[in-house]
Amino acid sequence: MKALMCHAFGPISDLRLEQAPDPLPGPGQVVVRVRACSLNFPDALIVQGRYQVKPALPFSPGAEFAGVVESLGEGVRHVRVGDAVVAFAGHGGLAERCVLDAARLLPLPAGMDFAQGAAFVLTYGTALHALRRIAELREGQTLLVLGAAGGVGLAAVEVGKALGARVIAAASSASRLELAARHGADAGIDYATQDLRQRVLELSEGRGADVVLDPVGGPYAEKALRATAWRGSYLVVGFAAGEIPRMPLNLVLLQERRLLGVYWGEALQREPVAHLRDMEQLVAWFSEGRLRPPITERVGLDAALDALQRMAARGVMGKVVVELGA
Ligand SMILES: NC(=O)c1ccc[n+]([C@@H]2O[C@H](COP(=O)([O-])OP(=O)(O)OC[C@H]3O[C@@H](n4cnc5c(N)ncnc54)[C@H](OP(=O)(O)O)[C@@H]3O)[C@@H](O)[C@H]2O)c1
Repeated sequence: MKALMCHAFGPISDLRLEQAPDPLPGPGQVVVRVRACSLNFPDALIVQGRYQVKPALPFSPGAEFAGVVESLGEGVRHVRVGDAVVAFAGHGGLAERCVLDAARLLPLPAGMDFAQGAAFVLTYGTALHALRRIAELREGQTLLVLGAAGGVGLAAVEVGKALGARVIAAASSASRLELAARHGADAGIDYATQDLRQRVLELSEGRGADVVLDPVGGPYAEKALRATAWRGSYLVVGFAAGEIPRMPLNLVLLQERRLLGVYWGEALQREPVAHLRDMEQLVAWFSEGRLRPPITERVGLDAALDALQRMAARGVMGKVVVELGA
């Protein structure tokens, strides 16, 4: 089979598109014929060895994908050959076939094509887990989303709206803010040219944001914490800007703010039932038209390396989906 392979942790440019052996399912596993795999920022971190999870070498990146079950290992009962599925595998999706534990599959929801299915579980799952379970975002509250035109960012904009919040999008250009507005953001702040804290205060009658979701970190993090309301929550989701910020804790004390960590991939292992409930909610919102996976680019496997490099260099918006044909 054709696969984009990582043979050693290092620069993304070292990935190679090559022929790899077809995988076989072990007990409890399935082989999925991958039809679409979306890119997520952690895919770029994993191949560089800069992520908390390091797969055994060699491997294909590609954490989430959709496809068709091709073969079953011993003891697999809840899926059948020919089923259309979505999968969060952590890696392995940028290949024509992927072997993974059957427990990591869900049926492809009704009304969703393979590309949408591939761009659903990770970003929307993270957004709902962060906003509802961790921050307990409530109707009428103000939510500030950083990196609001990115994968997690746009999902947080839509999930925030579905939970009844007023959503302020923050991103680095007018076109990014337009995309966030098309996905429901009520207001936008260009943090490349505007003072983030000042603008949040102006947009919230001086109160600040009740909840801040930050997948970016870097230079915006402290400004965003300073823009968080009295007893508001600041969600640490990721560090796409590269630098892991250090925060003065007096900013937490003086406004009784809550600094909250989010680690969706670990939470779904520890709390699988809660994860399934989140998925049911997300699929219901999708079928009501309230969630629209923001696919901005569709490329073939031969262009996946280039797209991954652009993603790591702040050069994509929304979700890039790699389509692998029938
Ligand atoms: N904690 C969790 O459970 C969890 C789950 C999923 C993902 N994550 C993390 O969330 C972050 C976002 O993931 P994603 O898939 O949404 O990524 P993405 O689609 O690439 O979006 C990241 C956004 O970060 C901003 N950014 C600022 N500086 C950047 C830089 N130097 N390079 C790249 N982007 C930069 C960009 O927006 P602007 O240009 O508008 O600033 C970009 O749209 C990653 O750090 C990822 O590891 C965490």
